[in-house]
Order: sequence, then structure tokens, then C-alpha cells
Amino acid sequence: MKEYVEKSNIFINTHPLVQHKISMLRDIHTGTNEFRKLVEEIGMLMGYEALSDLPLEEVEIETPIEKCKSPVVSGRKLAIVPILRAGLGMVNGLLALTPTAKVGHIGLYRDPKTHNPVEYYCKLPDPINERIIVVTDPMLATGGSACDAVRMIREHGGVNIKFMCIIAAPEGLRRLSEAFPDMQIYVGHLDKGLNENAYIVPGLGDAGDRIFGTK
Ligand code: PRP
Ligand code: URA
Repeated sequence: MKEYVEKSNIFINTHPLVQHKISMLRDIHTGTNEFRKLVEEIGMLMGYEALSDLPLEEVEIETPIEKCKSPVVSGRKLAIVPILRAGLGMVNGLLALTPTAKVGHIGLYRDPKTHNPVEYYCKLPDPINERIIVVTDPMLATGGSACDAVRMIREHGGVNIKFMCIIAAPEGLRRLSEAFPDMQIYVGHLDKGLNENAYIVPGLGDAGDRIFGTK
């Protein structure tokens, strides 16, 4: 997998703060309130990296000392698109960095028997084609949900898409990157694999349930 990652558009995070927060997320003793805060913070820290190639333009600024040319983020508009439900947890972290971004939503859940994604909602900012789109979901397991979400966005005209997840299984990462080889994929941590229920091992359990306190 290491060689495969090096040859692709996959970025595996190594930042100590992100790794520390992911360990706290995994802990079975981390309660809903803390879990939610951690997902948001990781969303912000990973967003900082994922948006590091935003285009800049020079504008004239007057400081108290003199006028100068200084860079600002240029016209390309952003859309954040969480995969419901768990992807919602990362949105506020990204909005802290880019408060004017629009937010779309894609509703998918995994069928508990087949583990295949079932679509129930899609609402994207219009027009979507000119935007830089960041899709968020804490978990990339089999990759079925992520592949469907990206396909749906492309069918609506989205072109410039980045995918951000906190924990990925090699199976899902390979599937997503092979389906969309040009798409940048940002991963907080690459785990060992999937268990017989297609849950990530060691993972953190069910991200949606832990964020929203359900189950
Ligand atoms: C989880 C997770 C991903 C998906 C990953 O959502 O948030 O969307 O599973 O699994 P996959 O890679 O095998 O498709 P879930 O279906 O549990 O829905 P929820 O967020 O509403 O709980
Ligand atoms: N969805 C989750 O929330 N966790 C997993 O490990 C796999 C899918």
C-alpha cells in the first residue's frame, strides 16, 4: 500500500496533533461531547492541509506604513459536502477556515446486510461546476459510500473534488483512488483493514452513532 500511496493522489496525514486527536477518538471511553469536538478539530486541521493549494491573487493593501501588494485567496468558490450523517461532524472545522463556503449534503447509509450504500438525499450548491468541492466523511471503509457520493457530485457537474476522511481502510482507499485517480484524497490515518461486518479495524466503531449519541 505504501508504494501505491506514493504513486497516487493520496495524502496520509502525519501531523502529531492529528494523530493524537485520532487516538482520543478511537478510545471507547470518549463520550459524545468530546468525540464531536475532536471530529470538528480534526476537520479543521486536515482542512488546513487539503486547502494548501488554493489559488492566490495579489491585491493592493494599505498598511499603516505604506501601500503594498499582498496575496489573498482568489475567486474560486468553495463547497463543503458532508456525507450524512457522520460527515456533518467535520463541517464546522472547515467552515472555521473558510466561513463563506457553501455547504451541500449527500445522504447515504450502508445497508447493514449488504454493506452497499443506499442514497436518500442530495442537495448541492448551484452552480457546482465552478467550485472547489471538499467531500467529508470520517470513515472510508469499503469505499462504497465515498464512490457513490463522488459519482453523484460529478453527475451534478462537479469537477474539482477533494475527499477528506479521518480513518481509511486500505480496501476503501484503493477502491476510491482507482475509481477517481485524479481526485486528491486526504486521510487522517490508514488502518489495518475491515472486519467481517465491514467495520474498520481498529477504527473507532460507528462514527455517526458516536457523533450523534445514537444506538
Ligand atoms: C458510515 C460512514 C461512511 C460509511 C463508510 O456511514 O460515515 O459514510 O459508513 O462505509 P463504506 O466505505 O463501507 O461505504 P453510515 O452508513 O454508518 O451512516 P451514518 O453516517 O448515517 O451513520
Ligand atoms: N462506518 C463507520 O462508522 N465505521 C466503520 O468502521 C465503517 C463504516
